Amino acid sequence: ALIHRADYQQPAYWIRKVELTFDLDPAKTIVGSKLQIERNHAVPHGPLRLHGEELNLLRVLIDGSSVSFRQEGHELIIESAPDADFLLEIRSTCAPEKNTALSGLYTSGGSFFTQCEAEGFRRITYFLDRPDVMAVYTVTLRADAKKYPVLLANGNLQATGELDNGRHFATWHDPFPKPSYLFAVVAGDLVTREQRIRTRAGKDHLLQVYVRRGDLEKTEHAMNSLVASIVWDEARFGLPLDLERFMVVGVSDFNMGAMENKGLNIFNTSALLASPATATDTDFARIESIVAHEYFHNWTGNRVTCRDWFQLSLKEGLTVFRDQEFSMDMAGSPSARAVCRIQDVRALRAVQFPEDSGAMAHPVRPDSYSEINNFYTATVYEKGSEVVRMYQTLVGRKGFEAGMKLYFERHDGQAVTCDDFAAAMADANPGSPLASRLDAFKRWYSQAGTPRVTALGEHDAAARTYTLKLRQHTPATPGQADKLPQVIPVVMGLLDRHGQALALDASGATERTLVLEQAEQSFVFENIEHEPVPSLLRGFSAPVVLDDGLSDAALLVLLRHDSDPFNRWEASQRLALNRILAALRAGQPLVLSSAFIEAMRAVLRHPDLDPAFKELALTLPGEAYIAEQLDVVDPQAIHTAVMSAQTQLAAALRDDWIAAYEANQIQGGYTPDPVSSGKRALANLALSMLVLDAQTTGDTVWPGKAYQRFKDASNMTDRFGALAALVAAQAELAAPALERFHALFKDDALVIDKWFSLQARAPEVDGKVFARAKSLLQHPDFTLKNPNRARSLLASLLLFNPAAFHRTDAAGYVLWAEQVLAIDALNPMLASRISRALDRWSQLAEPYRSAAREAVARVAAKPDLSPDVREIVERALASG
Ligand code: ARG
Ligand code: ZN
Repeated sequence: ALIHRADYQQPAYWIRKVELTFDLDPAKTIVGSKLQIERNHAVPHGPLRLHGEELNLLRVLIDGSSVSFRQEGHELIIESAPDADFLLEIRSTCAPEKNTALSGLYTSGGSFFTQCEAEGFRRITYFLDRPDVMAVYTVTLRADAKKYPVLLANGNLQATGELDNGRHFATWHDPFPKPSYLFAVVAGDLVTREQRIRTRAGKDHLLQVYVRRGDLEKTEHAMNSLVASIVWDEARFGLPLDLERFMVVGVSDFNMGAMENKGLNIFNTSALLASPATATDTDFARIESIVAHEYFHNWTGNRVTCRDWFQLSLKEGLTVFRDQEFSMDMAGSPSARAVCRIQDVRALRAVQFPEDSGAMAHPVRPDSYSEINNFYTATVYEKGSEVVRMYQTLVGRKGFEAGMKLYFERHDGQAVTCDDFAAAMADANPGSPLASRLDAFKRWYSQAGTPRVTALGEHDAAARTYTLKLRQHTPATPGQADKLPQVIPVVMGLLDRHGQALALDASGATERTLVLEQAEQSFVFENIEHEPVPSLLRGFSAPVVLDDGLSDAALLVLLRHDSDPFNRWEASQRLALNRILAALRAGQPLVLSSAFIEAMRAVLRHPDLDPAFKELALTLPGEAYIAEQLDVVDPQAIHTAVMSAQTQLAAALRDDWIAAYEANQIQGGYTPDPVSSGKRALANLALSMLVLDAQTTGDTVWPGKAYQRFKDASNMTDRFGALAALVAAQAELAAPALERFHALFKDDALVIDKWFSLQARAPEVDGKVFARAKSLLQHPDFTLKNPNRARSLLASLLLFNPAAFHRTDAAGYVLWAEQVLAIDALNPMLASRISRALDRWSQLAEPYRSAAREAVARVAAKPDLSPDVREIVERALASG
């Protein structure tokens, strides 16, 4: 059933205090709940309807007496609930070891964990499981002392002790009122890394990272990241840690990255554990950002939470923005900051842009959903973060900080809406470009689809003026045919032909923020002698597609000279994209021009550019992003064009790749800092180019060198980079290297995940990658039950390897349907993620389109789909 944002109503009852007791047992856990219920007189009196799923109800008491109730679907209904405050006591049981959905209370590796966001708490006990119901929790855990020596819940530890039969207990109290989705318990045989810190306010805090025995030495980076996050949030936003104790726990079976439960964050081990020997630079960076993200939720999400799930981006968009800012500040140099920004934008374009133009397109603040788990999306998270970034662009960094301050002054302890956040930002910045157009700005929350901005520059030599005409248009998306103009901050500058920055006004400023708010608007610059080169949307100042119609000559000026590193990178991508699109549109083989090759050579040889930047500039646009530029998508043609561009770049720059490889070797120990990881990234790109080129020329030296490096590497980034180079080129040495890698790491699940995913993501040649991935489904290490493992093979193949997935024989779609159904029976949330691989079937060229539609229809015809998968496939069918 569809739920609509417009239907929001307060509940007729609040729950103010919760006392829970857990008698933990994998087969049957008994949960006792005492709820202090307060009648909400703002709403007419009616029955009390509590959510509950997969529970066995034992008894219900109101003020100590039994009461009549009924169970209907996923609700427990008490018709005769008093029109007053009362105490409700409920006893029920659940079966954690049977919980393969990993929502609610479940077991993993012999320990107990919970995941409650968004609606998992109702799988633990009957409750008003909605984020506007905020309560103070006291939790007692009882369990076997040997099997579960560690007993954790939110807040502060109040009491522990022994019980009969070898059992023990712990009681925890969380003083902060919280919604049920932030509830968590953990029980198991875990070990902990501890660190004490004193915050600016002079308070001492205990930080703990809990993991399985044997994983402790992989927690140092997470702990360092946590300390850095705490320091940063206090320094940048004045937001301190508010708990005596802050715990982080790792679990191997987890549907997402991590979860910000109050004082007890729970992490997928893939987002927590790292050592130089087992994790890559990318893993280290991802862990730092996810640890920060969950910690930052303590204020943006927990202290101030969401009134209803339509407001999800209130906490997620804002918290992604905060973790992105943190990563940039941690990176340090302007160029390292730009590298962070480029990576974020690349991810946005690769995932969110396609989402915004496919069947699942939805506004940052959706208007309706049937399964909220389907809306933990790149739009809510990453586009949401871009919306928050635009506030900062419009009111300035100081203004943004003032807005945050006002937001917390007004709303600490409350469950609020995106409108409340917008109002705080505007009210803290009267007279700002935001305040004067707040209503129009808020269309970013309500309109789906990526706006297209077209720029047309006109130079008037006689008048010495340059007129920039900007136009915007947002394409129709399912359910939203007509869109109003949005408020688009366009940070820009003008360069002369030689790359000199031009003064934009009498003050001599060389950068300005234009605010495009109409469908069409012109901006005039005076005293412009010659036709300039516009550098628009610097730093990617708005999440739009920009068509500035720049010639290659103009792009080359930007690539060489723009003061904005983001736009320098963007110029490199546009140069490549233009070539690839031209070849695809003409249906001709791609031939790289010598101008393009020389530009790339100049980047590679540049004495001042950072290796990290070079690696990004020399990496061709991703196939998903290329597909976005086309009305009809032929995944095979795109792949062929990209592979051809890559092969040509590999050959033409061979000597420079060798030089880059050699110049970027690192002596000494491993650290994941931006400078070293940039060097490793460029060396790995160079190596993969050299191995690729060797496949064409028949040279055996570079594959041999890659194999040697693979064997001898002292860290995972180098080892995996060399392995990836061999696998991507389908070199003969790939097979022995893969075998050796597996033998070396067979006991480390996270590394074996990489092993699966590398093979499933490899560039397709003649269907070999698909065949290999399919055979890996039978590998003894493969299982659908562990989400990381399932994703390592299936998400890699179906979501991230279009050329392996979209086949003329439709075998990819057959596999998709079969795997979605198999996973759905175990874990609907995971199945629904995988099912999104066919979101954009209607944009495919034939024969893919018809075959893909047929596969979607076949899945949709199954009567017993989860609501999760049903919503995805039905939206997909409706989008055709
Ligand atoms: N709030 C968590 C985070 O952003 C993610 C929770 C995802 N929940 C879900 N049902 N998909 O860190
Ligand atoms: Zn989050």
